[in-house]
Formats: sequence, structure tokens, C-alpha cells
Amino acid sequence: MKSLCIKGGKPLCGTVKISGAKNAALPILASVILSRGTSVIHNVPRLSDVNIIIKILHALGVDIYRREDEALVCTVKNESCCTPPCELVQKMRASICVMGPLLAKRQKAKIAFPGGCVIGERPIDLHLKGMQYLGAHVETKDSHVELTSEFLCGAKMFLGSEFGSTVLGTANVMMAASLAEGTTVIENAAREPEVEELAKFLNQMGAKISGLGTNVLTIQGVAELHGTEYRIISDRIEAGTFIIAAAMTRGRIELQNVSPLHLACVITTLKRIGVTIVEYFDRIVVEGNNSYSPTQVCTKPYPGFPTDLQAQLASMLAIVLGKSCITEKIYPQRFAYVNELVKMGASIEQKGASVYIQGGKTLKGATVFASDLRASAALVLAGLVAIGETTIKHIHHLERGYENLQAKLSLLGADIMYK
Ligand code: EPZ
Repeated sequence: MKSLCIKGGKPLCGTVKISGAKNAALPILASVILSRGTSVIHNVPRLSDVNIIIKILHALGVDIYRREDEALVCTVKNESCCTPPCELVQKMRASICVMGPLLAKRQKAKIAFPGGCVIGERPIDLHLKGMQYLGAHVETKDSHVELTSEFLCGAKMFLGSEFGSTVLGTANVMMAASLAEGTTVIENAAREPEVEELAKFLNQMGAKISGLGTNVLTIQGVAELHGTEYRIISDRIEAGTFIIAAAMTRGRIELQNVSPLHLACVITTLKRIGVTIVEYFDRIVVEGNNSYSPTQVCTKPYPGFPTDLQAQLASMLAIVLGKSCITEKIYPQRFAYVNELVKMGASIEQKGASVYIQGGKTLKGATVFASDLRASAALVLAGLVAIGETTIKHIHHLERGYENLQAKLSLLGADIMYK
């Protein structure tokens, strides 16, 4: 099992091109099931999660190959299978995205309960409720759920839990409603840019979705959807991770292929801490400074501070002198990284859904263990500033969501290699 070894203390300097967004690519690829003909999708990152959804789609009769120009060419060839392989579904939470398309296009979906990161409870009750609103018959068995429906009817629904809106739940209902009879209204819809991108992709395939970017989506069902060509937006979470990396190492990097608008809350937070950030239309220039201020942050659904950057921010606040606090409102147990940062000398105490950070410590290199995708990113950031060498085990978690991270960091001057 390979590890990632980092010798800390090098400021990051230079330019980095941000890859396509994993969380936009996964539902968009799943939505191909809804269409006839061929879709060409550009800027799909090379990630293990993307490989999983490609294998699932292959099993569901979709022919997919990566063209020389890196675009994915997807054509639905066979619509007989409605059961994605359970060993693949259990590897990745986002596999649940095939539920809505299978139900709407093939009138049936038999799906194992999805796996994914160990970041806390990952229920799918809202997905199932949304399908039931559209008229599906839902049967929950021990290890999987079966949904059937001769045809789906548009409905009005409120989609949310005590933790707020649901990103993939909104995606699933929007995809199913695209081929339902009549009009569907989703209140409390997720507003994440990745949900908006899926709506744009579906509309390009012939769907009739309005309210994009708001928390009320209206979908007028249509008879069929056709193939289209699309470019995946850049990954705002990867970009946020690099912004924090530049700030922590007190370097200066330019991020290319990013939309500052999608990072408004993150940029505001980091400027409040004392990071110098200049935003342009599709790039961001970040300059670290010598002194930063502690802060308090609460994660929220978009446009709030994203839960997917919570761990990375904690790594930064661990070296910022003073008392900081982060409260996690989406996944209250998403703190698996804390003990690993403490091993490196951080002073962090978890109380319920919050972590209290006594920042300003000098981190020291150690052997640490990644537990999930964003926790592994937090450990990489800590390793970049720690004194001595940090070895990160179970680094396969990182490759789920960061394309060529080691190479990108090396090009920026980091001393980081696989061993
Ligand atoms: C998406 O997961 C992202 N994954 C996650 O990113 C991200 O952390 C999350 O949205 C929140 O922004 C993808 O897009 C592939 P949710 P999703 O449904 O859709 C509760 C990463 O690191 N809930 O918005 O699965 C749920 O427990 C990953 O890239 C229900 O109660 O998240 C959570 O507390 C990790 N019932 C909250 O809602 C449901 O049926 C938000 O979950 C569904 C969700």
C-alpha cells in the first residue's frame, strides 16, 4: 500500500490549473442514462470515483470511452439492466445518482445501499421520499432498495432534513422529474454549483428546468432527452484546498480555471483570517502573509462555507495563533482527521459538532492515517508546513477526489513523493 511522504517548510509558488469538478461530473455522467444518442463530456477529471461511475454505467449498458482529447464519449446501447453492481455501489456514495435516471427511463431501479466516506450517517431517505412523491413504489430490503414505477407524475415537494438541503437528493429528483408527466417543484432544493451544472446539462439534453441556482427548482417533464456536448466546471473544493495550501506555506500561487464566485464564502473567510486574495474572472491569485487572525466558522449548504473544506480549514487554523472554532452543521461527526493532526502537535478538541482549536502550534512531521477524502487533504496541508517528514498512509482516499495532487504540489515547490 503506497504512502505519501512530505518534507514540510517549502512555500508554494507558481501556477496551478484546477481540474474538473468530481461532484459535477458524477451526477452528469449518471444522467446520460436518461438520454438517447451520444453525449460528449469534456474536463472530466481522472479520479477513482469517476472510474467507479464509468464501470457502473458500463454494467448498465452505457458505452463510455475517453477520446484522445480526454473527453468522455457516452452512448446508451442497452437498457435492459436496472441493477448496478452492488460491489461498486458500496464503494461510492455518489452511485446513488443512477437511481433517478433508471427509474425514469427504465421504470425500475434495484440499488444496494451506497457506501462512501466515513464522515457520518449517509441516509438516502430523502432520495426515496422524492421518488415516492413522483409516484414510485419503494421497497426497502436488507441490503438494497427496489423502486418501480410504470410512469412518474410531477409533484410538489420539500426536500430537506435537519441538516438542510440534499445535493444528490436534489440531483436524483431533478433527473427523474425530467421525464415525468407534468410539472415538479422542488422546494429547499440544493443550490450547489454542481447541482446547477447538472440542470444546465439536462436542459441541453432537452429537459425543461427553471429556477437554476435558487432553492426552488421547477421541472416540466418531457417525452425524451437527447445527447449533447458539455464541459465540466472546475472543482471549487480542489481550488479551496490550494488557496489554503498557499496561505499555510506563506507562498504565492495563481489558480487557473476557477470561478471565484463559487468560492465567495471561502475567500471571504480566508481574507478575514488575513490571506491576500485577488480574484479575476477565471483565476485567483493567493499570497500568504506572516500573521493571521483566529476565527469562528460554521459549515452550511451552498453558498455557505462548504463542509468539504472544513478539515482543510482546521489544518490552517491549527497554525494560526489564538482560539478558533469550527462547527460542522452538515456532517456533525466529520472530524476523523482531528486525532491525526493532534499527533502532529496540533491542539484541537472536539466537543459535539464543533472543534475548538488552540492555534499557533508548530506542527511536527509524523506518520498519520487518512480516513476519508477531505481528511487526507487536511493531512497533506499539515505535512506541507510541519517540521520534518510526514508520511500519510491509506492515501488511496486522496485519489478519489484530487487529480494529480502530488504532481501539482511538486510543481509548486513542495517536497512530496509517493513511497
Ligand atoms: C454531496 O453529498 C457531496 N458528494 C459531498 O461531497 C458533500 O459533502 C455533500 O454533498 C454536502 O455538500 C457528491 O456530490 C458526490 P447531502 P450528498 O445529501 O449529496 C443528510 C466530497 O468530499 N441527508 O447534501 O450525499 C446527510 O446525512 C463529498 O466530495 C439525509 O438526511 O450529501 C447530510 O447530513 C463528501 N437524508 C446532509 O443531509 C438523505 O436522504 C447533506 O447531505 C440525504 C442526505
